[in-house]
Amino acid sequence: MRTAEIGQRFLTFFEERGHDVVPSASLLYNDPTLLFVNAGMVPFKNYLMGVEPAPWQRATSIQKCVRTLDIDEVGRTTRHGTFFQMLGNFSFGDYFKTDAIEWAWELVTGPTSEGGLGFDPAKIWVTVLGPGFHPDYPDGDVEARRTWLKVGVPAEHIQGRSLADNYWHMGVPGPGGPCSEIYVDRGPQFGPDGGPEADEDRYMEIWNLVFMQNERGEGIGKGNFEIVGELPKKNIDTGLGIERVACILQGVDNVYETDLLRPVIDVAEELTGATYGDKASQEDNIRFRVVADHSRTGMMLILDGVTPGNEGRGYILRRLLRRIIRSAKLLGAKGATMERFMNTVMDTMTPSYPEIADNRERILRVAINEEKAFLKTLESGTKLFDEAVDDLRSTHRAKTQKVLSGDKAFELHDTYGFPIDLTLEMAQEAGLDVDMEGFNAAMGEQRRRAKADNQAKKHGHTDLSLYRDWV
Ligand code: GLY
Repeated sequence: MRTAEIGQRFLTFFEERGHDVVPSASLLYNDPTLLFVNAGMVPFKNYLMGVEPAPWQRATSIQKCVRTLDIDEVGRTTRHGTFFQMLGNFSFGDYFKTDAIEWAWELVTGPTSEGGLGFDPAKIWVTVLGPGFHPDYPDGDVEARRTWLKVGVPAEHIQGRSLADNYWHMGVPGPGGPCSEIYVDRGPQFGPDGGPEADEDRYMEIWNLVFMQNERGEGIGKGNFEIVGELPKKNIDTGLGIERVACILQGVDNVYETDLLRPVIDVAEELTGATYGDKASQEDNIRFRVVADHSRTGMMLILDGVTPGNEGRGYILRRLLRRIIRSAKLLGAKGATMERFMNTVMDTMTPSYPEIADNRERILRVAINEEKAFLKTLESGTKLFDEAVDDLRSTHRAKTQKVLSGDKAFELHDTYGFPIDLTLEMAQEAGLDVDMEGFNAAMGEQRRRAKADNQAKKHGHTDLSLYRDWV
């Protein structure tokens, strides 16, 4: 089943059950706590918190999301994407837990001939909040467990887990609540027996049902926060990862090989001469997946108005685009590749996001300009980096010095345009640390000079003392 069809089935299912279909918000939705929308509920946050009355009692959407915290996992696991589309059904003080679970079961296991997704019920596992983790649930989420048993999930396929796994919130103060996750067993070739508690690659999470009823306060970490109160109403917020469902229904190993991303891998094979798959090294396969994943995320960010820069959203885009370029180079690309990658991913995504068609030229221009700028210096920067590594490895220092100096990292950043994360990654690949204190000091010094220079320009004279310090 193609990805676009999975989305359509989801929306139709919930539309038939009284939900309004709401279009995706921009990735740059105005929420001061987030750089990018990272969940389907973000545009509905005020309705869930009770700050504004919801225009609907029930809604359903396919929301564009970007999460880059796990960027290093991309390509290494079978399921981490920096861009994904979250399908959701939402109740604003209307239906609650029982309906949400019963409908999810019906859609997931319903026959494809009747609009369902057709998963074999015997392969489904679910998790609920376990006993002793939440003051309102001393025995765990008994109601959720009871409802799963009622729809037909056997007791041995229901696992109770802690707040870190089965209490969802945005990672910052805001709405939250206990949740119940649906997993599909992909078979023993993907990992050991024992359900999601044992292995989350074999048992792939596809859908999270959040029973949103609390306001979460301050705290750091997934399970370490205060619950500061009850929300005015009990709500439902769910998130189904369309890429993961597509991966399983299309019978491919990972989310980078679905109908939306595999064509980028194919183009990367053509442009680099390298081969993807069982015969390739793990490192090369990761590079192919990075190219595919980041091409799509970069394209979607440019579509929504981000341009490469050195801070905030722009920095994230720059980092993604430069990782594509470096990965393609390491795979053997000789020249520019961005135009083909962007064109391919725009082709696969346009049926779901027709607005891409009007923005093709702009997207290409932004991505290609970034590539041109980086390609100019990538080779010389890599040479500088390799020389520094050779120097560190040279016999007289090898045993004691395994740290790339802050000055070198700064030079790579300042002269060659290497985002510091790229230098950190390259250093890690070479088994080195980076002197971040030294790097930050050099950055601070550069900022101080720039500020002084601006001041001098403002006052119409040059501050020669700074010049003397510098030389
Ligand atoms: N808001 C539900 C989820 O992101 O999993």
